[in-house]
Amino acid sequence: MRTGDSYGPPTYRRAVLADADRLADVHIRVLMVAYRGIDPQEWLNSLPQQLEERRSRWKDRLTNLPHDPVVVAEVEPAGVVGFAVGGPARGEPPLGYDAELISIYLLPEHQRRGIGHELVRRVARSLLDLGFQGMLVRVLTANPARLFYERLGARSLGIDTVSIGGQELEETVYGWSNLDLYFPPE
Ligand SMILES: CC(C)(COP(=O)(O)OP(=O)(O)OC[C@H]1O[C@@H](n2cnc3c(N)ncnc32)[C@H](O)[C@@H]1OP(=O)(O)O)[C@@H](O)C(=O)NCCC(=O)NCCS
Repeated sequence: MRTGDSYGPPTYRRAVLADADRLADVHIRVLMVAYRGIDPQEWLNSLPQQLEERRSRWKDRLTNLPHDPVVVAEVEPAGVVGFAVGGPARGEPPLGYDAELISIYLLPEHQRRGIGHELVRRVARSLLDLGFQGMLVRVLTANPARLFYERLGARSLGIDTVSIGGQELEETVYGWSNLDLYFPPE
């Protein structure tokens, strides 16, 4: 396997419909590694069988929600190695947190090189352009990615539960109340 250093520098762009299959693939690959020991193993084992369904969900999202930012990171020669998705906050968000970082996933060999931070910044800037002000993100409390959000200045807003593979898991809700402050333009 190549190490992070043997890849070219990352570049970023908005996702297009032709990325749908690769996005589903990257998403499943990252989930299977990052959530081992966190999500139910039976559910993780079933992910490869969900590939086709997830590909069509990505096509639906990219077709039907064209304003919601989906930003991809690419490196040569691998192509797309990660992505982040933003949109209006789901459920009943706390006052002032009108947007949500819906997901962010990066292949393991490309983590800890600043790509995640840049993906969040770009999603946040797109959401600001759309008129949003604050952003929340939900993360399983057992996921060390929590520390990534804390490092980016997010504050913990509370605890919730989510059902995954038939199990109730605890998630922490984090938020940035002022996106412009935490994610300045380049
Ligand atoms: C979480 C994720 C998006 C972070 O992206 P990344 O490119 O690896 O993060 P960055 O390099 O931008 O990290 C910035 C800082 O956040 C902190 N950080 C990032 N990942 C961390 C981790 N797993 N544990 C602790 N701190 C972490 C570090 O302080 C890091 O700075 P440093 O590397 O100089 O110490 C990526 O690791 C990932 O895809 N993880 C698996 C999927 C996942 O859990 N997604 C979140 C679902 S809610």
